[in-house]
Amino acid sequence: MNELENIKELFEERITSVNDLNELNAIRVDFLGKNGHLTTCMKLIKDLSNEEKKSFGENVNKLKTLVLERIEEKKEYLEEKEIRAEIDKMPNVDLTTPSGDKRGSLHPVTIVQQKLIDIFRSMGFTVEDGNEVETEYNNFEAVNIPKHHPARDMQDTFYLSNGQVLKTHTSASQNRIMKKYGAPLKAIFPGRCFRNEELDASHENTFFQMEGMMIDKDVSISNLIYFMKTMLSEVFGKEVNVRLRPGFFPFVEPGFELDSSCPYCGGKGCRVCKNSGWIELCPCGMIHPNVLEMGGIDPNEYQGFAFGLGLSRLVMMTYGFDDIRHLNGKDLNVLSQTKVK
Ligand code: DAH
Repeated sequence: MNELENIKELFEERITSVNDLNELNAIRVDFLGKNGHLTTCMKLIKDLSNEEKKSFGENVNKLKTLVLERIEEKKEYLEEKEIRAEIDKMPNVDLTTPSGDKRGSLHPVTIVQQKLIDIFRSMGFTVEDGNEVETEYNNFEAVNIPKHHPARDMQDTFYLSNGQVLKTHTSASQNRIMKKYGAPLKAIFPGRCFRNEELDASHENTFFQMEGMMIDKDVSISNLIYFMKTMLSEVFGKEVNVRLRPGFFPFVEPGFELDSSCPYCGGKGCRVCKNSGWIELCPCGMIHPNVLEMGGIDPNEYQGFAFGLGLSRLVMMTYGFDDIRHLNGKDLNVLSQTKVK
């Protein structure tokens, strides 16, 4: 009995002062190993009388359980202590907080698009989604570009093996939207467009446009000018002037190139406007009667205007990007600039 008390005392002494896992393992060996104190005690049992055997055996087992438990407890404690020591050696980072500079940001196209959506919503336009894969009919025929029309050459198109196309312009959604809502109608539909362009700083095979349509009774070019001027003044955060020049697009008649007075130099001439005082931003026009008709709208009763804002171009201007390829690139130094100039 005394022997067990001594072993227990010795164990308590060592387990209380143990400081690392190696030492703990040494304790395990010293007490529970082949020649450990407790193992040796167990071996003594067989030489005892039956009576002694029982109580001694019980006590040895109790002590063994206690030793095992205490070693396990201490092991957990020491393991955790080691992990903590490792963490303390690391630079002081809180892995649960978002990491300062590297926090994600909205893509510049998303930011400008969102701003345009807010502006048009405030003027009563709905915002529509468009398909990226379109029927040839919607992309061309429905906007008055029949097969073999030379205007198709201006848009080098990706044809899919099923005869559909990657939409070359957001105008491809005009027909679907007219059929969906009928007249009157005020809608914008931003989207990604695709053309088989020779790539350079101002040409990409994947770019963004924002189309808009307003159809109602008595809609005229004055309405078009009003909405474009209001929209651009809001986008640039200052009053701009607009001017129309003639432009040909088969889906509008008359068709225009709409220029904005340069918001950066106020029209005096600068790098952005190439010293002309004007920037070309938004082809537009009065919707061709054929297009209305194909959309199920009676051109004798309704008129409308449409525009196709070059969203990629507007984003480049807003952020001062000199290469359109940044917009599909992965350079975070470029893409994380969220300050609108
Ligand atoms: N879809 C034309 C293009 O991508 C742009 C365009 C011009 C859209 C005139 C229009 C418009 O709605 O009226 O080249």
